[in-house]
Amino acid sequence: MEPKIGLTKEELSKSIKDLTVVLSNEMILYVKTRKFHWNVTGNSFMELHKLFENQYSTLEETIDDVAERISELGGKAIGTMKEFIKHSILEEDSNFINQNEMLEELLNDHEKIIIQLRKFIKNAEEIEDVGTADFLTSILMDHESKSWILRKYLS
Ligand SMILES: [Fe+2]
Repeated sequence: MEPKIGLTKEELSKSIKDLTVVLSNEMILYVKTRKFHWNVTGNSFMELHKLFENQYSTLEETIDDVAERISELGGKAIGTMKEFIKHSILEEDSNFINQNEMLEELLNDHEKIIIQLRKFIKNAEEIEDVGTADFLTSILMDHESKSWILRKYLS
């Protein structure tokens, strides 16, 4: 059954398309942050081990919210790694890098997501999908907060 919420079919699919990219980015970043939680070494081991755990745990909640938002708009949430990689603007990390490189890599990914979210928020505003615009704004703010923490370790 299609949602009758004042948005046309085309408008709904526009938002679903952007939300699918957001879902894919969050998944790639989640997996990467979890990998860094497992493999971090060095003098900040325990601190970064815990920080990364905290970050991937909240990313996991975001992932669930994004997938459910897609469903709320009448879409289907993709769920294979292949599809996530295809739709994401982020690259997976298959190397074993040191703690500073991990921080830089994560910061870089969060910043890329933030920049793209600004575009998606504008797209949602243009079609008056205020729910999605507001939802994406809260995700953007969470990435800004995570970026701020990562940046503090690097400055
Ligand atoms: Fe763990």
